[in-house]
Amino acid sequence: MPAHDVLIIGAGLAGQRAALAAAQGGADVAIVSKVHPVRSHSVAAAGGINAAINVADDWRSHAYDTVKGSDFLGDQDAIEIMCSQAPKEVMHLEHIGVTFHRNDSGELDLRAFGGASMKRTAYVADITGQAILHVLYEQLMKHHEQVTRYEEWFVTSLLQDENGCCCGVIARDVRSGQMDVLGAKNVILACGGAGQVYSPTTNALIVTGDGIAQAYRVGAPLMDMEMIQYHPTTLVENGLLITEGARGEGAVLLNSEGERFMEKYAPNKMELASRDVVSRAEQTEILEGRGVGARKDGIYLDITKVPRKRTLEALREIVNIGKDFAGVDITREPIMIRPGQHYIMGGVKTDVNGATSIEGLYAAGEVACVSVHGGNRLGANSLLDTLIFGRRAGEHAAARAAQMAMPQIPQARLGEDMAMIDAIIARPHTGRRVSEIKQELGETMNKYVAVYRDEEGLRTAHETVRRLKDESGSAYVDDRGTVFNQDVLGAIELGYMLDSAEAIVVSAIERKESRGAQFRTDFPERDDEQWLKHIDITTSADGAGGPQVSYSPVTITQWQPEERKY
Ligand code: FUM
Repeated sequence: MPAHDVLIIGAGLAGQRAALAAAQGGADVAIVSKVHPVRSHSVAAAGGINAAINVADDWRSHAYDTVKGSDFLGDQDAIEIMCSQAPKEVMHLEHIGVTFHRNDSGELDLRAFGGASMKRTAYVADITGQAILHVLYEQLMKHHEQVTRYEEWFVTSLLQDENGCCCGVIARDVRSGQMDVLGAKNVILACGGAGQVYSPTTNALIVTGDGIAQAYRVGAPLMDMEMIQYHPTTLVENGLLITEGARGEGAVLLNSEGERFMEKYAPNKMELASRDVVSRAEQTEILEGRGVGARKDGIYLDITKVPRKRTLEALREIVNIGKDFAGVDITREPIMIRPGQHYIMGGVKTDVNGATSIEGLYAAGEVACVSVHGGNRLGANSLLDTLIFGRRAGEHAAARAAQMAMPQIPQARLGEDMAMIDAIIARPHTGRRVSEIKQELGETMNKYVAVYRDEEGLRTAHETVRRLKDESGSAYVDDRGTVFNQDVLGAIELGYMLDSAEAIVVSAIERKESRGAQFRTDFPERDDEQWLKHIDITTSADGAGGPQVSYSPVTITQWQPEERKY
């Protein structure tokens, strides 16, 4: 059985950054990823990464914008760490080879992004995530003697020793179907969010809440799960992302009457208000009959305002997306968009070093909730979150590993997980298909747990999720083989998605106010007296009691809650 000091699950930006930090801390590291690392969802991150690197800027201004963007639910100690360490992290990326865009004076160029009081988003055209991911992967190659890579291995369970400490995982080699125990002194979850709980979503098919559910199942609390971000500009027909960088470069939003309606909702920041505000404004225009398109369910994003040369240079990916997926040349005509699921602010509750409540288990990136995003994440703060807290988790896990012996790794779970997979494969074709259940889940969440929510809709969503959980127990697959059996992995992912969805819905029912991305039409005001607190969700070891709700305080250091206006 292989065993490592630090075992990282997920090889996107958080995972690779954690691996490099742990390796530099002297640890024997392994990184497990269900897809090839450069196909991790971080590759889709488009518009950029925030850092106060302009001499006229200050990290405190970045931190205040982030606190305000979070609707005062973000923990300010964590936000201070993220924003103060951002400039050094971005310069580090530049030094290891990320080709950030430069201005005519040769300095790093910065573009405008939503909710920011000045231009502070460094970028590589609109493929920033891809550019960083490839450079980090090169660095992993350089550290190949210290970092073992389990590429295309799928994790089925987290392991705990007799003291409840996390001590490894059970995983399946996707290429062969072989299962193994991977032991570890520390495990870092860095396997992304749960976007596939929704349909449509901007998230890749691999983003199925695996780490969120795995941590939840071993007793780690989830936090801020009700806070689901709808990005203001996703393609109407399929939910693909049109980067906020477009609005940063000067694109405007128009309703069916040709009005630049953001004047009504955010007269100061207009299209560059925070995402929750812009998405709600668009949804209100659509609900009040001023949407565009045959079904009047879209809004026009007019990028023709941006000089064509600049669009072709700085927004070239969405030029292609417009042509290939909507048949629109965005340099010459408006494109139809609407709010679409993009990100989960909540996740596995951690401290500022990525430690969860389970000894030896860390989390970083979208799977985690530190909480730096609170009720609403600012655009271009997610790449930053992955890198800062990925690095910190890697450093702390390596330091912990240096002070301990390898724990006793229990082996029994291997047989149980092998039997679980055999049972999925053997299911008779009498239940529903996995894909049908997943589709119903996604549509339900997108209908009832979206930009606007109310008690009745949320209760309907909860009943549906519980029914789908029952049905998933007999959901069948077609592929009975061992080689690249994505069917059977899809059935396991469905379980992860349903656990994540239930936590989201239960939290959204619990929070009886409107804050950030959670807008309750039945409780339309923010209520700091009752609800300036995090909602934590846990489950019993056997999951039988369902989700349990508790609360934890929001950390306030220097910015008292105030009315949020853009
Ligand atoms: O619109 C975008 O480019 C997305 C950025 C983000 O979610 O941070």
